Amino acid sequence: MIADTLPADPDLNEARALVDARRYRAALRLLRGAGPGGLERLRLRGLAHLGHRDAPAAIDCLRRVLADQPDDPGTIEALARAHQADNAPFPAVRWFERAACLTPGGTALAAALSGAYRRDARYRDALMLARAALSDGLPGADLRYEAAMAAAYLGDDDEALAHFDALLADDPEHAAAWFGSHAQALHRHGPDEALRRLRRATRCGGANGKYWGYLAATLRLLGRDGEADAVEAAEIGDNPKRRPLPDGARALLPHLAADFRLFGNSARLLRHALACAGLPGLVLEFGVRRGTSLDHIAEAAGQDVHGFDSFEGLPEGWVNSPRGVLTTGRQLPRVRGNARLHVGWFEDSLPPFLADTPGPLRFANVDSDIYASARTVLGALADRVRPGSVIVFDEYIGNRSWRDDEYRAFQEFAAETGLRYEYFAASPYTKQVAVRVLEVAGARS
Ligand SMILES: C[S@@+](CC[C@H](N)C(=O)[O-])C[C@H]1O[C@@H](n2cnc3c(N)ncnc32)[C@H](O)[C@@H]1O
Repeated sequence: MIADTLPADPDLNEARALVDARRYRAALRLLRGAGPGGLERLRLRGLAHLGHRDAPAAIDCLRRVLADQPDDPGTIEALARAHQADNAPFPAVRWFERAACLTPGGTALAAALSGAYRRDARYRDALMLARAALSDGLPGADLRYEAAMAAAYLGDDDEALAHFDALLADDPEHAAAWFGSHAQALHRHGPDEALRRLRRATRCGGANGKYWGYLAATLRLLGRDGEADAVEAAEIGDNPKRRPLPDGARALLPHLAADFRLFGNSARLLRHALACAGLPGLVLEFGVRRGTSLDHIAEAAGQDVHGFDSFEGLPEGWVNSPRGVLTTGRQLPRVRGNARLHVGWFEDSLPPFLADTPGPLRFANVDSDIYASARTVLGALADRVRPGSVIVFDEYIGNRSWRDDEYRAFQEFAAETGLRYEYFAASPYTKQVAVRVLEVAGARS
């Protein structure tokens, strides 16, 4: 037990005022070391660590408070936010749900839980919660934003755009809403409107500088080279955060198909890629998680589809995320009747599946993020790839490490197997590309 004292201590009052004023470093200095105040001191330290973006330290303090005060709603919510900040949506959801049970009816908490569902890829739950809160009359840009994002992931760009536009009517300076809406507007209103929204996003106060990278990449892939060059010269330069997308877009150019199309919505790109995959054969997905893209694929494929995943998250760390990120805690998603799940690491599950299942590759969605996983998949599928096979990669361009991830795995595979290919669809917004195989060395048919 940690002794709890009433917060009469002047240091604690001052620390609380500093936390409220977002002066987290000063609060931490004041609260350093042992001192009077017991649980309240620990709780304030947790809040200050959270504000200071040290999520692991915040989690440690807040968990110790909850060991003594398991039902304190404020501490539970803070712990949920700390897990969210720690890029761990799975525990974040659990704690937000608990906080929402203890204090139902709040806009901020509903929006936070909806956002946690979204980050945990539970888009239906995110959308239903946000819709219900909005229809209960709860105000809030955050709820609208969550509804829009979840609808976009679920492939409903009409609903997504309607939420974004309602949000922008209330707050015309909401940079993230202009940005998110540009990708959905591409399909409804065409490239000029998408570009107008993207440019508008860059002009909002506090806009993310990366939006310039999206603008340059989008212009480049639309063939508007003069405008792309001007944006790159004026706004991108050597900026390491803005460079990856324009560089990724340039890397696609030598292999751009005559029928190349630009997308903003993942489900639309997948449906288009499947419609272009006319070769009879296997339809596979690598990286299923909660089953969102497998659902789009199974709906559009017109045949059986197979999803492969450990459901334990990434087998190694990636960018700033630790090993195990994106886990579902080994929960399997509910899938359509024509979809089968193959649970396990790709190197264990794919060879026996292929040994039992003949036929060339019609379509694969490689959505397992890291180089090693893409290499494993491509290596195992090498003798199933034919002219006409289609492969979609989900994280091909635009991340800081894109050259070392799926892009590298595919480039190595293409060089080793003498593959000729073209890119016939891409989305700077979702970082997907769709590849059509044209020729395989030593051609099988
Ligand atoms: C980005 S998520 C997939 C997202 C999913 N396609 C969707 O629509 O939400 C990546 C998934 O790949 C899985 N994964 C990555 N590498 C793997 C490997 N080598 N073996 C098995 N699963 C792997 C992870 O467990 C994780 O669920």
